[in-house]
Amino acid sequence: MNKDTIHILAIESSCDDTSAAVLSNHRVLSLVNASQEVHREFGGVVPELASRSHQKNMMPTVHLALERSGLNRSEIDAVAFTRGPGLLGSLLVGTHFAKSMAWALNRPLIGVNHMEGHILAHFIEGKGVPPEFPFLNLTVSGGHTQLVWVTDPLSFQVIGETLDDAAGETFDKAAKLLHLPYPGGPEIDRLAREGNPKSFDFARPHIPELDFSFSGLKTSIRYTLEAFEREHPDKLRESLPDICASIQHRIVSILIDKMNRALDRYPARDITLSGGVSANSGLRAAFEKLAENRGVRAHIPPFAYCTDNAAMIGMAAYFRYRAGLFDPLSTPVEARMPLGNGGF
Ligand code: KG4
Ligand code: ZN
Repeated sequence: MNKDTIHILAIESSCDDTSAAVLSNHRVLSLVNASQEVHREFGGVVPELASRSHQKNMMPTVHLALERSGLNRSEIDAVAFTRGPGLLGSLLVGTHFAKSMAWALNRPLIGVNHMEGHILAHFIEGKGVPPEFPFLNLTVSGGHTQLVWVTDPLSFQVIGETLDDAAGETFDKAAKLLHLPYPGGPEIDRLAREGNPKSFDFARPHIPELDFSFSGLKTSIRYTLEAFEREHPDKLRESLPDICASIQHRIVSILIDKMNRALDRYPARDITLSGGVSANSGLRAAFEKLAENRGVRAHIPPFAYCTDNAAMIGMAAYFRYRAGLFDPLSTPVEARMPLGNGGF
């Protein structure tokens, strides 16, 4: 276990993207994503279709990742996979594939929590320096909105989370009301660039402490848009940039406000943003501004590591490998999986 260089093959299949990566310690040698266009026509992820697509895409995706890594199969030291949280059928496809690979190669198996993967993506070798422990992380994805106090690569304390919907889900549902294609987050982001964020005033939740709520905002967006469509049926299209800018502005201000409050209580020098919504240009800019105002360092992953990808799973697995944390072939998937508190 004291080899200097560890090569990990990682597989991610928790939602609608099949992804495989090969890492050499903190460095990504290859990353291959097969995204599933099939969900677009349904305006959201259809779990059964997602599992079927994973079945189809898994073999070629892993094969290509191995080929592009330039490594031989025998040079792989461990096989990692996403154990949860996520869609059960989708998780099962990746898990069984990873187990078969680990068994066939006679290498250890490492199950990773998807949310820990998002957070540890900050340690993938890139342009910037990684955050220093302890740090304060804001995870914003399609299914989660969490503030996490991270004291080492295995210890994650959730200090605030959403009581209902996630921020990514709010972007996606608002986009659906606007008849934009799925996933809606990137579409709203794109249109918001041309709009005025002060044009529409959507509800701001008043939730105590560090928790979040987005269901009231979602309802407010729905009522406002329905009324607008009734009163100005031919103006929706031309108002899209203003509507999107206002929706984005409200979601971002909720997130930044809680991050600010968390910083009052947790003495972090580094703050990190993770999850698919960290690709949002408005959120990225506001997060950097917040760090500047508070005199802390902001870390935002490069776009490729913001949305779901296997490189972040490989990165999290690397820390588990170094700590000697391996999983038996009998390890189950967990559709609902809490963040770990392992200690390092
Ligand atoms: O982390 P992720 O890839 O998958 C989950 O684990 O949920 O996050 C997906 C979410 C979707 O809701 C998607 O709309 C959102 O991230 N997203 C964005 C942007 N890119 C992805 N939301 C706002 N702006 C973006 N640029
Ligand atoms: Zn994710």
